[in-house]
Amino acid sequence: MAHHANKASKRKQITDVGSVSAALPLAQKRPTLLCTKFDFFIGGSQVMVSLISLAVLLEPQDLKPAVLSPRRIKAADVPRLADLYLHAYADGTYNPNTEKAADRIRAIFEGARGAPIPEASFLTADADGNIIAAIVTTNRVLGDHGSETAFVAELFTHPDHRRKGLAERLLKHAMHALHRAGHRTLAVTVNIDNAAALALYLSRDFRRLTQPAENN
Ligand SMILES: CC(C)(COP(=O)(O)OP(=O)(O)OC[C@H]1O[C@@H](n2cnc3c(N)ncnc32)[C@H](O)[C@@H]1OP(=O)(O)O)[C@@H](O)C(=O)NCCC(=O)NCCS
Repeated sequence: MAHHANKASKRKQITDVGSVSAALPLAQKRPTLLCTKFDFFIGGSQVMVSLISLAVLLEPQDLKPAVLSPRRIKAADVPRLADLYLHAYADGTYNPNTEKAADRIRAIFEGARGAPIPEASFLTADADGNIIAAIVTTNRVLGDHGSETAFVAELFTHPDHRRKGLAERLLKHAMHALHRAGHRTLAVTVNIDNAAALALYLSRDFRRLTQPAENN
Protein backbone atom coordinates (compact mmCIF):
# COMPACT_ATOMS: atom_id res chain seq x y z
CA MET A 1 0.00 0.00 0.00
CA ALA A 2 2.72 2.38 1.10
CA HIS A 3 4.64 1.24 -1.95
CA HIS A 4 1.71 2.16 -4.26
CA ALA A 5 1.14 5.49 -2.60
CA ASN A 6 4.80 6.20 -2.93
CA LYS A 7 4.80 5.24 -6.60
CA ALA A 8 1.68 7.34 -7.27
CA SER A 9 3.16 10.42 -5.69
CA LYS A 10 6.40 9.82 -7.55
CA ARG A 11 4.43 9.60 -10.84
CA LYS A 12 2.66 12.84 -10.05
CA GLN A 13 5.92 14.54 -9.35
CA ILE A 14 7.39 13.19 -12.59
CA THR A 15 4.28 14.21 -14.56
CA ASP A 16 4.62 17.73 -13.24
CA VAL A 17 8.26 17.87 -14.15
CA GLY A 18 7.55 16.07 -17.42
CA SER A 19 5.12 18.74 -18.53
CA VAL A 20 7.87 21.29 -18.09
CA SER A 21 10.42 19.08 -19.82
CA ALA A 22 8.03 18.61 -22.72
CA ALA A 23 8.09 22.36 -23.20
CA LEU A 24 11.84 22.24 -23.61
CA PRO A 25 12.92 21.33 -27.15
CA LEU A 26 16.03 19.84 -25.62
CA ALA A 27 13.99 17.22 -23.81
CA GLN A 28 11.39 16.53 -26.50
CA LYS A 29 12.96 13.54 -28.24
CA ARG A 30 13.68 11.54 -25.14
CA PRO A 31 13.44 13.11 -21.71
CA THR A 32 16.81 12.53 -20.20
CA LEU A 33 17.54 12.07 -16.54
CA LEU A 34 20.38 14.30 -15.74
CA CYS A 35 20.75 13.64 -12.06
CA THR A 36 23.90 11.61 -11.88
CA LYS A 37 26.08 10.43 -9.03
CA PHE A 38 29.83 10.89 -9.35
CA ASP A 39 32.62 9.69 -7.08
CA PHE A 40 35.60 11.91 -6.82
CA PHE A 41 38.37 12.57 -4.35
CA ILE A 42 38.94 15.64 -2.20
CA GLY A 43 42.04 15.63 0.00
CA GLY A 44 42.38 11.86 -0.41
CA SER A 45 38.82 11.01 0.68
CA GLN A 46 36.15 9.73 -1.65
CA VAL A 47 33.16 12.02 -2.03
CA MET A 48 29.86 11.17 -3.72
CA VAL A 49 28.25 14.07 -5.55
CA SER A 50 24.74 14.16 -6.96
CA LEU A 51 24.34 16.41 -9.93
CA ILE A 52 21.05 17.67 -11.29
CA SER A 53 20.54 19.19 -14.72
CA LEU A 54 18.24 22.10 -15.36
CA ALA A 55 17.28 23.94 -18.53
CA VAL A 56 15.37 27.01 -19.63
CA LEU A 57 13.86 28.16 -22.90
CA LEU A 58 15.70 31.29 -23.99
CA GLU A 59 13.94 34.62 -24.39
CA PRO A 60 15.15 38.22 -24.74
CA GLN A 61 16.03 39.66 -21.32
CA ASP A 62 15.36 43.10 -19.90
CA LEU A 63 18.96 44.28 -19.34
CA LYS A 64 18.76 47.28 -17.05
CA PRO A 65 21.79 49.61 -17.05
CA ALA A 66 23.98 49.04 -13.97
CA VAL A 67 27.11 50.57 -12.48
CA LEU A 68 29.00 47.28 -12.80
CA SER A 69 28.01 46.26 -16.29
CA PRO A 70 29.18 42.86 -17.61
CA ARG A 71 31.60 42.77 -20.54
CA ARG A 72 32.72 39.93 -22.77
CA ILE A 73 35.57 37.71 -21.57
CA LYS A 74 38.79 38.11 -23.57
CA ALA A 75 41.67 35.63 -23.82
CA ALA A 76 43.82 37.93 -21.67
CA ASP A 77 41.29 37.58 -18.80
CA VAL A 78 41.75 33.82 -18.45
CA PRO A 79 44.61 33.82 -15.84
CA ARG A 80 42.67 36.24 -13.63
CA LEU A 81 39.52 34.10 -14.02
CA ALA A 82 41.48 31.19 -12.58
CA ASP A 83 42.22 33.36 -9.55
CA LEU A 84 38.54 34.21 -9.16
CA TYR A 85 37.64 30.53 -9.53
CA LEU A 86 40.04 29.71 -6.70
CA HIS A 87 38.38 32.22 -4.37
CA ALA A 88 34.83 31.38 -5.44
CA TYR A 89 35.20 27.69 -4.61
CA ALA A 90 37.41 28.16 -1.53
CA ASP A 91 34.33 28.53 0.66
CA GLY A 92 34.10 24.90 1.70
CA THR A 93 32.25 23.70 -1.41
CA TYR A 94 35.22 22.38 -3.25
CA ASN A 95 38.61 23.96 -2.18
CA PRO A 96 40.78 23.71 -5.31
CA ASN A 97 44.45 24.71 -5.16
CA THR A 98 45.97 27.35 -7.47
CA GLU A 99 47.24 24.82 -9.96
CA LYS A 100 43.94 22.93 -10.15
CA ALA A 101 42.00 26.17 -10.54
CA ALA A 102 44.23 27.27 -13.44
CA ASP A 103 43.96 23.80 -15.06
CA ARG A 104 40.20 23.77 -14.68
CA ILE A 105 39.70 27.22 -16.20
CA ARG A 106 42.16 26.52 -19.02
CA ALA A 107 40.38 23.21 -19.75
CA ILE A 108 37.01 24.96 -19.94
CA PHE A 109 38.33 27.47 -22.48
CA GLU A 110 39.92 24.59 -24.41
CA GLY A 111 36.53 22.90 -24.73
CA ALA A 112 36.46 20.35 -21.87
CA ARG A 113 32.84 21.28 -21.16
CA GLY A 114 31.79 21.95 -24.75
CA ALA A 115 32.92 24.55 -27.28
CA PRO A 116 32.99 27.99 -25.60
CA ILE A 117 30.55 30.65 -26.86
CA PRO A 118 32.58 33.89 -26.56
CA GLU A 119 29.65 36.18 -27.43
CA ALA A 120 27.73 34.83 -24.42
CA SER A 121 30.56 34.57 -21.87
CA PHE A 122 30.85 37.62 -19.64
CA LEU A 123 32.64 38.97 -16.60
CA THR A 124 32.02 41.77 -14.15
CA ALA A 125 34.94 43.90 -12.94
CA ASP A 126 34.90 46.35 -10.02
CA ALA A 127 35.95 50.02 -10.28
CA ASP A 128 39.62 48.99 -9.90
CA GLY A 129 39.37 46.46 -12.72
CA ASN A 130 39.37 43.37 -10.46
CA ILE A 131 37.25 40.55 -11.86
CA ILE A 132 34.56 39.78 -9.28
CA ALA A 133 32.13 37.52 -11.19
CA ALA A 134 32.00 35.59 -14.46
CA ILE A 135 29.90 33.28 -16.61
CA VAL A 136 31.27 30.96 -19.30
CA THR A 137 28.82 29.36 -21.72
CA THR A 138 29.53 26.52 -24.14
CA ASN A 139 27.81 24.36 -26.75
CA ARG A 140 27.25 20.91 -25.32
CA VAL A 141 25.39 17.66 -25.96
CA LEU A 142 23.57 16.43 -22.84
CA GLY A 143 22.44 12.83 -22.28
CA ASP A 144 23.13 9.72 -24.40
CA HIS A 145 20.88 10.83 -27.27
CA GLY A 146 20.55 14.46 -26.31
CA SER A 147 20.51 17.44 -28.59
CA GLU A 148 23.10 20.16 -28.51
CA THR A 149 22.29 23.01 -26.17
CA ALA A 150 23.96 26.09 -24.81
CA PHE A 151 25.36 25.22 -21.38
CA VAL A 152 26.57 27.16 -18.34
CA ALA A 153 30.08 25.73 -18.02
CA GLU A 154 30.89 28.04 -15.09
CA LEU A 155 29.26 30.84 -13.14
CA PHE A 156 30.91 32.25 -10.06
CA THR A 157 31.04 35.35 -7.88
CA HIS A 158 33.84 36.32 -5.50
CA PRO A 159 32.69 35.59 -1.91
CA ASP A 160 33.11 39.30 -0.95
CA HIS A 161 30.57 40.29 -3.61
CA ARG A 162 27.78 37.75 -3.18
CA ARG A 163 24.06 38.50 -2.95
CA LYS A 164 24.42 41.75 -4.92
CA GLY A 165 22.77 40.37 -8.04
CA LEU A 166 26.04 39.92 -9.98
CA ALA A 167 25.46 36.29 -10.97
CA GLU A 168 21.86 36.98 -11.89
CA ARG A 169 22.91 39.89 -14.13
CA LEU A 170 25.59 37.78 -15.82
CA LEU A 171 23.08 35.00 -16.39
CA LYS A 172 20.59 37.44 -17.92
CA HIS A 173 23.28 38.88 -20.23
CA ALA A 174 24.27 35.38 -21.31
CA MET A 175 20.63 34.36 -21.90
CA HIS A 176 20.00 37.52 -23.95
CA ALA A 177 23.15 37.06 -26.05
CA LEU A 178 22.41 33.37 -26.61
CA HIS A 179 18.86 34.13 -27.73
CA ARG A 180 20.16 36.77 -30.15
CA ALA A 181 22.65 34.25 -31.51
CA GLY A 182 19.80 31.81 -32.25
CA HIS A 183 20.13 29.38 -29.34
CA ARG A 184 16.83 28.03 -28.02
CA THR A 185 17.76 26.49 -24.67
CA LEU A 186 20.30 26.95 -21.91
CA ALA A 187 21.16 24.06 -19.58
CA VAL A 188 23.29 23.71 -16.49
CA THR A 189 24.39 20.89 -14.20
CA VAL A 190 24.43 21.72 -10.50
CA ASN A 191 25.52 19.83 -7.40
CA ILE A 192 22.25 19.04 -5.63
CA ASP A 193 23.71 20.45 -2.37
CA ASN A 194 24.46 23.82 -4.00
CA ALA A 195 21.47 25.72 -2.59
CA ALA A 196 22.70 29.12 -3.81
CA ALA A 197 23.06 27.99 -7.43
CA LEU A 198 19.77 26.05 -7.40
CA ALA A 199 17.91 29.06 -5.96
CA LEU A 200 19.45 31.29 -8.60
CA TYR A 201 18.56 29.06 -11.57
CA LEU A 202 15.04 28.27 -10.33
CA SER A 203 14.40 31.99 -9.86
CA ARG A 204 15.35 32.46 -13.55
CA ASP A 205 12.80 29.79 -14.61
CA PHE A 206 15.20 26.90 -15.14
CA ARG A 207 13.41 23.55 -14.69
CA ARG A 208 14.65 20.04 -14.08
CA LEU A 209 15.28 17.65 -16.96
CA THR A 210 14.14 14.14 -16.08
CA GLN A 211 13.46 10.61 -17.26
CA PRO A 212 10.63 8.17 -16.35
CA ALA A 213 10.18 7.57 -12.61
CA GLU A 214 10.86 3.80 -12.89
CA ASN A 215 14.52 4.49 -13.63
CA ASN A 216 14.97 6.86 -10.71
C1 LIG B 1 25.93 30.60 -6.95
C2 LIG B 1 26.64 31.93 -7.03
C3 LIG B 1 27.23 32.09 -8.44
C4 LIG B 1 25.60 33.07 -6.80
O1 LIG B 1 26.29 34.31 -7.00
P1 LIG B 1 25.72 35.71 -6.46
O2 LIG B 1 26.36 36.78 -7.27
O3 LIG B 1 25.91 35.79 -4.99
O4 LIG B 1 24.18 35.58 -6.80
P2 LIG B 1 23.11 36.79 -6.93
O5 LIG B 1 23.43 37.85 -5.93
O6 LIG B 1 23.02 37.20 -8.35
O7 LIG B 1 21.79 36.02 -6.49
C5 LIG B 1 20.59 36.04 -7.27
C6 LIG B 1 19.56 35.17 -6.59
O8 LIG B 1 20.04 33.82 -6.46
C7 LIG B 1 19.60 33.25 -5.21
N1 LIG B 1 20.74 33.05 -4.32
C8 LIG B 1 22.03 33.40 -4.54
N2 LIG B 1 22.80 33.02 -3.50
C9 LIG B 1 21.99 32.42 -2.61
C10 LIG B 1 22.20 31.80 -1.36
N3 LIG B 1 23.43 31.74 -0.79
N4 LIG B 1 21.15 31.26 -0.72
C11 LIG B 1 19.92 31.30 -1.27
N5 LIG B 1 19.63 31.89 -2.46
C12 LIG B 1 20.67 32.43 -3.13
C13 LIG B 1 18.67 34.31 -4.61
O9 LIG B 1 17.38 34.06 -5.15
C14 LIG B 1 19.25 35.57 -5.17
O10 LIG B 1 18.34 36.67 -5.17
P3 LIG B 1 18.19 37.56 -3.83
O11 LIG B 1 19.58 37.92 -3.35
O12 LIG B 1 17.40 38.75 -4.31
O13 LIG B 1 17.48 36.71 -2.84
C15 LIG B 1 27.73 32.09 -5.93
O14 LIG B 1 27.18 31.69 -4.69
C16 LIG B 1 29.00 31.29 -6.21
O15 LIG B 1 29.91 31.79 -6.86
N6 LIG B 1 29.08 30.05 -5.70
C17 LIG B 1 30.29 29.20 -5.87
C18 LIG B 1 30.42 28.75 -7.32
C19 LIG B 1 29.19 27.96 -7.77
O16 LIG B 1 28.72 27.10 -7.05
N7 LIG B 1 28.69 28.30 -8.98
C20 LIG B 1 27.54 27.63 -9.56
C21 LIG B 1 28.01 26.57 -10.53
S1 LIG B 1 26.61 25.86 -11.40
